[in-house]
Amino acid sequence: MKFIDTHTHLFLKQFSGDIDSVINNAIASGVSKMFLPNISSSTTKAMMELCRKYPENCFPMMGLHPCDVKKESLEKELLHVEGMLEKNKFIAVGEIGLDLYWDKTTLDIQKEAFENQIKLAKKHQLPIVIHVRESFNEAIEIVEKLNDENLSGVFHCFTGDVRDAKRITDLGNFYLGIGGVLTFKNAGVDKTIKEIDLKHLILETDSPYLTPTPFRGKRNESKYILNIAQKLAEVKGVSLEEIAEITNKNAINLFKIL
Ligand code: NI
Repeated sequence: MKFIDTHTHLFLKQFSGDIDSVINNAIASGVSKMFLPNISSSTTKAMMELCRKYPENCFPMMGLHPCDVKKESLEKELLHVEGMLEKNKFIAVGEIGLDLYWDKTTLDIQKEAFENQIKLAKKHQLPIVIHVRESFNEAIEIVEKLNDENLSGVFHCFTGDVRDAKRITDLGNFYLGIGGVLTFKNAGVDKTIKEIDLKHLILETDSPYLTPTPFRGKRNESKYILNIAQKLAEVKGVSLEEIAEITNKNAINLFKIL
């Protein structure tokens, strides 16, 4: 069985001591493809190097994370994203979006960065990988405004309700990214996902964060996509094989990676 981890930050310092075994363990577990969302210009080099070392397994995205949107550096960071997109091959623009959990004072410039990067994605005909935290309505309003038949993407680490999910699938070419939160007791994501067709779902770990049960508290790794897939199989009442097959098909359809 093969799985795709559509969102994993394997280039971060949490992996610097044992990245080769992390990747080999993932591959040995059937997770042969890992998609890497960028954070900011400070992480680009490490991400690109890892993707060059594992060209069959690791695929980079380019974007500025909303938590790294700062007034003093925004212009420089957006020019970096734009320049990298011009000169290199990426599978998506990400991760981009809005985060009102850590800092509400930067909402205006976060919106500016989000819209700007959606436009870059359209220009380069790439899907967008969206981060939202306590900002779902603000973020989806922007996507609805800029949406057209060529725009596609994923709301990564989806934790909303059925109405939120419907609003995403109504966009046309957008998926819900399902990660470790699905395995958390009392998070309630399982009740929502029970109501959503598998054709809208892709799998992700968001490593090193959001480690699934029973490894909560430890560093997350791409091989734990199996624990998320297992939980999804339980929630949907289907086999693990079916989860692998459908979520891979969805991920390939979105990111165009074979
Ligand atoms: Ni992320």
